[in-house]
Amino acid sequence: MAHFERVDIDPDFKTTMDLGAVLPQTAQIKDGHLYIGGVDTVELAKEYGTALYVMDELHIRTQLRNYLEWTRFHWKNVDVVYAGKAFISMAMCKLVEEEGCFLDVSSGGELALALASGFPAERIFSHGNNKTLPELTEAIEAGVGRIVVDSFEELERIDQLACERNLQQSVLIRVTPGVVADTHEYIQTGSEDSKFGFGLKDGLALDAVKRALQLPGVDFRGLHMHIGSQIFALNSYAKAIEVIVHFMDEIREQTGFTVAELDTGGGLGIAYGVPDEPSTIKQYGKVIVDDIKEHCEQHDLPVPRIMVEPGRSIVANAGVTLYTVGTIKAIPNIRTFVAIDGGMTDNIRPALYGARYEPVIANKADKPRDSVVTIAGKHCESGDVVVVNTPLQTAEVGDIVCVFATGAYCQSMASNYNKQVRPGVVFVRDGQSRLVVRRETYDDLMRCEVGL
Ligand SMILES: Cc1ncc(COP(=O)(O)O)c(C=O)c1O
Repeated sequence: MAHFERVDIDPDFKTTMDLGAVLPQTAQIKDGHLYIGGVDTVELAKEYGTALYVMDELHIRTQLRNYLEWTRFHWKNVDVVYAGKAFISMAMCKLVEEEGCFLDVSSGGELALALASGFPAERIFSHGNNKTLPELTEAIEAGVGRIVVDSFEELERIDQLACERNLQQSVLIRVTPGVVADTHEYIQTGSEDSKFGFGLKDGLALDAVKRALQLPGVDFRGLHMHIGSQIFALNSYAKAIEVIVHFMDEIREQTGFTVAELDTGGGLGIAYGVPDEPSTIKQYGKVIVDDIKEHCEQHDLPVPRIMVEPGRSIVANAGVTLYTVGTIKAIPNIRTFVAIDGGMTDNIRPALYGARYEPVIANKADKPRDSVVTIAGKHCESGDVVVVNTPLQTAEVGDIVCVFATGAYCQSMASNYNKQVRPGVVFVRDGQSRLVVRRETYDDLMRCEVGL
């Protein structure tokens, strides 16, 4: 049985710049090569080796600034909390701090890395549906700004840990608004049947708020929701906001407490392919803030401090992955496999949920994509592909393949399957490159081995 659908598609004859919104902001073609941040990607491949993640620093900063601008345009009291799970490194934490944003971490490891980068603890939000006792302890002792509470057990644990230290921990309570976002089911999180948060319909969320208000070690500040990721239809947010502001009203009625903070999560979609037309940050900012204001007005509630938590839309299009073509296998009347020196270990998304990408050959970036191939990884799984049936410039062994929009959920989900060393990460800006995460070595692969 064929592992992949055999679809007869034609080459699209597009050249790199035709890929539009998929590209990093500073993508350019010079002398037939793809440049990002003013740096020749073919030279980057030579200098740092492949596979390699390359991130356009200006693109990341622009996205963070756009979020600040287009949310605060409608309401001054908004903070942007970058979701580190999309891509985190010490250099990224530094950049988020420099841009005046907050940081969301979802494990003790992410917290440790953020703190090691010097990121201020009070600007960190701690997430997760099952934070372990050591993780909660670390977060509270570090003095994180908010813990986003996901269960009754966690509420009691936070209270106990805080009281033992004579502290009060500020928390948000995560609510599942019962809205099914228009996205892949693996990345929907706001429906009632979700492992995340407290449901509204069965009264659990209200019980959680009431309990939080009773606990001396807990300083209840407000609510959090996150309805999913890679969302194109903004009306999913509008619906969820209507529901959650209604819940804020119910909280006031039932407890007398006025919710002071509302975090609407992340999720804005991005262009992975040329036909994708995601909403803009400007449109998103308007829907989030205006809808909260409008519903608060209807319920005669003060407008809370608003937080948004974007991840993918900050870094996805900023990042590309560079690979070297190692083998080309043309199977007559079936398909041509172009095999590269990476794959599911540096980008699990195609295997995990059939994600699609746009590739070009960086050293032929001005040529039309005049063939159709399947870009395969080097790992021991037939499902290890980067892009199935994709237009590409005619490939030869030694070419540098560039896959776009890999800045989010690729490096952060990378693995050592087949004992593959994970690639390094290079930031590029103004004609300069700097290595911010080095490629792993075989020694790294063995550093946890403690004996025979
Ligand atoms: C709680 C929370 N906030 C923010 C995000 C970021 O979402 P995105 O990368 O889609 O913007 C996620 C991602 O799943 C999340 O779970």
